[in-house]
Amino acid sequence: MGSPVVLGIESSCDETGAGLVRGGQLLGQAMTSSMEEHARFGGVVPEIAARAHVHAVRPVIQRALEESGLRLRDIGAVAVAVTVGPGLAGALQVGLAGAKAIAYSLGVPLYGVHHLAGHVAADTLEHGPLPDPCMVLIVSGRHTSLLLVRDLARDPIVHLGDTRDDAAGECFDKVARVFGLPYPGGPAVDRAARDGNPRAVSFPRPLAGSYDFSFSGLKTAAARWAEGHAGRELPLADGAASLQEAVADVLTRKAVAACREHGVGTLVVVGGVAANSRVRSLAVERCRRAGIELRVPPLQLCTDNGAMIAAVGDLLVRAGAEPAPLDLSIDPSAPLEYAALHPATSPAGALR
Ligand code: KG4
Ligand code: ZN
Repeated sequence: MGSPVVLGIESSCDETGAGLVRGGQLLGQAMTSSMEEHARFGGVVPEIAARAHVHAVRPVIQRALEESGLRLRDIGAVAVAVTVGPGLAGALQVGLAGAKAIAYSLGVPLYGVHHLAGHVAADTLEHGPLPDPCMVLIVSGRHTSLLLVRDLARDPIVHLGDTRDDAAGECFDKVARVFGLPYPGGPAVDRAARDGNPRAVSFPRPLAGSYDFSFSGLKTAAARWAEGHAGRELPLADGAASLQEAVADVLTRKAVAACREHGVGTLVVVGGVAANSRVRSLAVERCRRAGIELRVPPLQLCTDNGAMIAAVGDLLVRAGAEPAPLDLSIDPSAPLEYAALHPATSPAGALR
């Protein structure tokens, strides 16, 4: 018999996702988001997100099963992988409780997964196994990290750089608000930038010479630039194009430099900001020039989803990783060291 079907559950922020993966193949997935409930607050409200997960988790798992043509009780061997952290505490609790209930009632193993490892694994569902080593740039509304990845299921993940303040997507979202654009800001900035001149405003490129990122200075510079036009019409297209250029320039320059320094031939770009048209085109251009293979998963696998968590679970199962105990707890600020959040390093270990 081949490897078991792995159910993955994601509930770290405003998306409730479920996915089913077996042997590196995506069998089906479903997702729902409470984004609309947060839009009028301009950002995610943790308690609203947690309550939305309570309502969504069961139907979303059901829909993922239907899409796969599977029923939970029909499956002989299932593993349940769940995002244990990082994320919003109340939101994570809901997914973990659901995962434990399913694992316990079916008598199958449970795996606690690091959310960012899920973003990395997402690409395997589209482009197959990751080469060892590969460079991964995660750029989303909450994360900006440059990672050196070897065997995702077995080896520690090396952080070459992380953001020191705002994430790249957060910068887009916050500046969009100042520009009078709707939330989420990234897609709105991308659209507004279409007819703009990316060299119209010279926004800062902070932390040159380091693999760490910082976007709060850029955010402030963009806000000042907009304030400087008070009472006059804002040249929105130019501002958006210049902002996007600065973000894309910093991200791709560092990622390509890291590949070169470490002799890595593949760059994987994941997370919601990987949808940005300039981030994509500049990554394509610079990777081609440097002879680096570029992998970017399709958008529905870039943003938070359950399939990516199932993909990690599937890798862990096939690597023979130790399952988590049923008293596994959430770890809202878990650092990314391994794909599996080992029980002994989570608060569950301390409580026993
Ligand atoms: O990965 P994601 O769906 O959720 C997490 O934050 O984990 O990423 C969402 C972020 C938001 O900040 C959104 O503004 C940004 O991705 N985003 C974009 C684009 N599409 C989404 N940023 C720039 N350009 C885009 N086209
Ligand atoms: Zn994420």
